[in-house]
Amino acid sequence: HGTSRINQKGHLEIGGCDTVDLARQFGTPLYIYDEALIRHTIREFRDAFEKCGLPYQIAYASKAFCTMAMCQLAAEEGCSLDVVSSGELYTALKADFPAERIHFHGNNKTPDEIGFALEAGIGAFVVDNFHELSLLSALAKEKGERANVLLRITPGVEAHTHEYISTGQQDSKFGFDIDSGMAKEAIRQALSLEGIHLEGLHSHIGSQIFETEGFVIAIQRVADLYEWAVRESGAKLRVLNVGGGFGIRYTEADTPLRPAAYVEAICDAVKSEFTLRSLPFPEIVIEPGRSIVGAAGTTLYTIGSIKEIPGIRKYVSVDGGMTDNPRPALYQAVHEACIANRAQEDPTEVVSIAGKCCESGDMLIWDLPLPSVRPNDLLAVSCTGAYNYSMANNYNRIPRPAVVFVCDGEADLVVERETFEDLVKNDRIPERLQASVK
Ligand code: LLP
Repeated sequence: HGTSRINQKGHLEIGGCDTVDLARQFGTPLYIYDEALIRHTIREFRDAFEKCGLPYQIAYASKAFCTMAMCQLAAEEGCSLDVVSSGELYTALKADFPAERIHFHGNNKTPDEIGFALEAGIGAFVVDNFHELSLLSALAKEKGERANVLLRITPGVEAHTHEYISTGQQDSKFGFDIDSGMAKEAIRQALSLEGIHLEGLHSHIGSQIFETEGFVIAIQRVADLYEWAVRESGAKLRVLNVGGGFGIRYTEADTPLRPAAYVEAICDAVKSEFTLRSLPFPEIVIEPGRSIVGAAGTTLYTIGSIKEIPGIRKYVSVDGGMTDNPRPALYQAVHEACIANRAQEDPTEVVSIAGKCCESGDMLIWDLPLPSVRPNDLLAVSCTGAYNYSMANNYNRIPRPAVVFVCDGEADLVVERETFEDLVKNDRIPERLQASVK
């Protein structure tokens, strides 16, 4: 459903914009977002919920890609927003995102962050641990408020994904564990503490998940706890947040389901588990990040040096790398790519794409089939919309790329390219050092 195609010049076009023109206008590396595809995906989630008939919220997980323009777009599409730091919260509020639709996550929210969120009047805190529960209670009480709270439950489900991005198993830094009795204790405390209004339970089992089984098992386990909370502790719960983690297709090897398939499985599981327990249906919240923005993002690079080690490998270097996309280095992530200025040509060789950082591990793609590559060609790496810009860094003091949204032939800059001035603007030289130079 993306708007990418090859135009008459043989160039890759996204959102009606020729990527060769985009490179000229905005420079490279460049993050390009297909705005129509983002909107389409959100609507797919929404349509699936409308069919299922239960109350719902789609809380876009802003950690995947958080800028003011993205927050604005998510607001326009009726999303709620999941933030995990006061930086993300600040960005959302700056974009006039309705505070009451913001949920605050994180396993170590600071007193300042909690204070800021209370001040802003956010919709809910997803409380992760006992320390946070008492901190939030004290701060809310001080302000004479009651904070809406979901408790983050570790359901004891291992999603089949990379170990760094699976979170639902018992041995995890996140949430209240069910099996040890921690979760019930958290519910008791949440109900007894002042300043806390317990609204529901939350679970999140991992990221880049291709099947629905893990969600169904998590829902069964959390529904048991939900029933216990309602019947045994008198909690008036109304929300069940099942997290995010819906997978996308980076390469042919990935086999994600359509958004609707995840939603249907979740709604069916909630309906049957709650019917079984004669409980009224809760509002269902999902927190998709990657599945909303991942496939909508493409990174455009300029190819520079090319080195062939005869019989071994051809290294093709681009003007970015692990600074704008740390995922291959961190998670062995695999991406597909094409030559944007000769997108119609068939592959004639297999090359490996290297980043420009001073580190052998800075390889973006191993063994990529491409038409014969030349310096100054443009490489378009697909599916870089999630956890690329948001995890970009200044290693080797490389400025972060610009971000553009494209739609119907229009390209709008939504994040300016960092400048060298930006890189040094927080640097200070102590006088002691200045003296020693003179
Ligand atoms: N909700 C919670 C509580 C989460 O921890 C996450 C992701 C999400 C929602 C959104 O998950 P998504 O739908 O995007 O899979 N940097 C890693 C991914 C880390 C995900 C962390 N939590 C990567 O690049 O693969």
